Amino acid sequence: MTDALHATPLADQAEYAQAVRLAVDAAAAYYGAGASALDDDSYDRLVRGIEAYEAAHPDDVLPGSPTGKVAGGAVVGDVPHTVPMLSLDNVFSPEELAGWAAGLERRLGRPVAVWSVEPKLDGLAVSARYRGGRLVQLVTRGDGTAGEDVTHAIGTVAGLPARLAEPVTVEIRGEVLMTGEQFEAACAKRTAHDGTTFANPRSAAAGTLRAKDRPYTCEMTFFSYGALPLPPQDDSDLAGRLRESPHSQIMAMVAGWGVRTTEATPVAGVAVDSIEQVQVRVEQVAAARAELPFGIDGIVIKADLAADQQEAGLSSRAPRWAIAYKLPAVEKITKLVGVEWNVGRTGIIAPRAVLEPVQLDGSVVTYATLHNPADITRRGLMLGDSVTVYKAGDVIPRVQAPVTHLRTGQEQPIEFPQECPRCGSDIDSSQERWRCVRGRACHAVASITYAVGRDQLDIEGLGQTRIVQLLSAGYVADFADLFTLTREQLLALDRMGEVSTDNLLAAIERAKGKPLNKVFCALGVRGTGRSMSRRIARHFATMDAIRAAGVEDVQAVEGIGPEKAAVMVAELADIAPLIDKLAAAGVNMTEPGATPPTAAGTAGAAGADGGDGAAGGEAETVPAAEPPLSGMAVVVTGSMSGPLAALSRNEMNELIERAGGKASSSVSARTSLLVAGEKAGSKKAKAESLGVRIATPEEFAAMLGEYI
Ligand code: IVH
Repeated sequence: MTDALHATPLADQAEYAQAVRLAVDAAAAYYGAGASALDDDSYDRLVRGIEAYEAAHPDDVLPGSPTGKVAGGAVVGDVPHTVPMLSLDNVFSPEELAGWAAGLERRLGRPVAVWSVEPKLDGLAVSARYRGGRLVQLVTRGDGTAGEDVTHAIGTVAGLPARLAEPVTVEIRGEVLMTGEQFEAACAKRTAHDGTTFANPRSAAAGTLRAKDRPYTCEMTFFSYGALPLPPQDDSDLAGRLRESPHSQIMAMVAGWGVRTTEATPVAGVAVDSIEQVQVRVEQVAAARAELPFGIDGIVIKADLAADQQEAGLSSRAPRWAIAYKLPAVEKITKLVGVEWNVGRTGIIAPRAVLEPVQLDGSVVTYATLHNPADITRRGLMLGDSVTVYKAGDVIPRVQAPVTHLRTGQEQPIEFPQECPRCGSDIDSSQERWRCVRGRACHAVASITYAVGRDQLDIEGLGQTRIVQLLSAGYVADFADLFTLTREQLLALDRMGEVSTDNLLAAIERAKGKPLNKVFCALGVRGTGRSMSRRIARHFATMDAIRAAGVEDVQAVEGIGPEKAAVMVAELADIAPLIDKLAAAGVNMTEPGATPPTAAGTAGAAGADGGDGAAGGEAETVPAAEPPLSGMAVVVTGSMSGPLAALSRNEMNELIERAGGKASSSVSARTSLLVAGEKAGSKKAKAESLGVRIATPEEFAAMLGEYI
């Protein structure tokens, strides 16, 4: 079965031969050493590409091709299987599933009365031989005909008891895997032992099952998905029952003997009587996947009744009575290109992986959690590593492990921060999760530092060290407290003389008169930087109007969509006490020149003042006519001169917006005006080529008149 969407296209014989080589190598790694250079998704696509090519060019099929072979023909073992351990064919969509079911029913000449639906466990197939109720031998799938003896692993596989509840002689088949917890424990043991780690739970289980002389043991888990008679006692009553019973009943028997099946998990096998119900269960299992403590890579659908299975028969590779409905890959290999250290509200310093973007379960993943520094050490991660990244459904993507055999030698150690990346204080690294010693106050340092910055309240003389001093002394808890600081308090601080105290007090006093856009920006509401704050302040004119706005009102501001609007409204409600404190301290809460929207939602004329009592002096000048840059997109380049000489680029942008324009940083056909000062370069040339109007700073100043 081929599907263009899921196949790597192969153009010619050379590409086909190369694909065969790549797939054979990957299968050898996957089924043998347990660590492949290709993730499952890429491998599946490659094999489908090979199948498609072979279907179109049957004479060119290479004997080494992995198609039609169990384990891609990669492994050979020396313990013959009593009955071949086969593979499963795959489908990838409800349509393909329905097509497969219809094909099976055609072959049988009747509808399939009962379907069994089970998770496809993401581990390794193992056959467990029980004689008289005792576990005597464990064998891997190998090439399907013969497998490797891994009897030494008995005792390390949970769910596979050494003794059954009944003295039966039977072969139990199923999957050995590692749960998330077992994987973590195995990685920790291996790192402690030799500094390396496992790429993912599946390869950890593969390596562990086959390892003979490790000085440490790692626990694995077994889930059964089948049972069959074991020669020579294959003429017993039990053997007869195993041959004749529906699959679902055999699984109940297996569970009754004390072997683990998926019975007690949220994705337990179920028997249903229509392909529609199969589809419903497929969706339920897919939805439960992200929360499962073990990996599944699909859903296995089987004709439940023995007669159906017998009549459908087998192909060389897979039974015709079963199919694997593959779920999208939730694990991919990508590159770790960086590590960022972020500080949460409580002061926890958390590393975050920056990845080469990779498509995973419906979204592009660029960042993934790394939990904590100990986690990085435990996994032995390095910058530049190829890493396995896991993401399913809505779960936060996480880096599982480096793929160490893909290392090039260019990888670099990951540097851990020496001081809090947000406030520069010491780090408490006594626990697994590192914290800024300032805890919650660390956030205060960062938010006050931001609020007093040049583009916000512009309070000179208040550096980070001074802010830390003020917080430590208990004089301030947030930036509104700055406005009630006393001279005595400031003088009491270390290295604070009279002159600096007076200068600081004067700067704080000046900050009270800042326009609303600066005060609003100082609040640090998510998504409201300088230019957004200007737009908000111009739109609403008063802090009261902003606070009274609902999610819909806020969306009237250009650039604010429903999501941002909801965040803004919620955050403003959260910081209501801070805003009250600012207003009470006499901080200006109005935007000069702006008029608040009226109840009807349109900009009103004089008298529509939102009742804000704390109007600053500047707030009263209301230009009468339409602002001079109304509707214009203005770009500034080169150095300013004349009346505009002292203005920074940010101040120029503010001025443009105050005068009704939109400040932009690049010239395009939509630009209305380029203000070009001395040393204007490529922007001027571009404006000329596009025929955009160009003004000198002096001409521009004249246009603005009273707005400067
Ligand atoms: S039935 C002869 N049931 O998937 C039928 N297999 O890709 C084959 N697997 O070799 C086994 N979960 O290792 C079956 N519920 C399940 C399974 C399952 C995982 C594995 C098994 C098989 C491979 C085929």
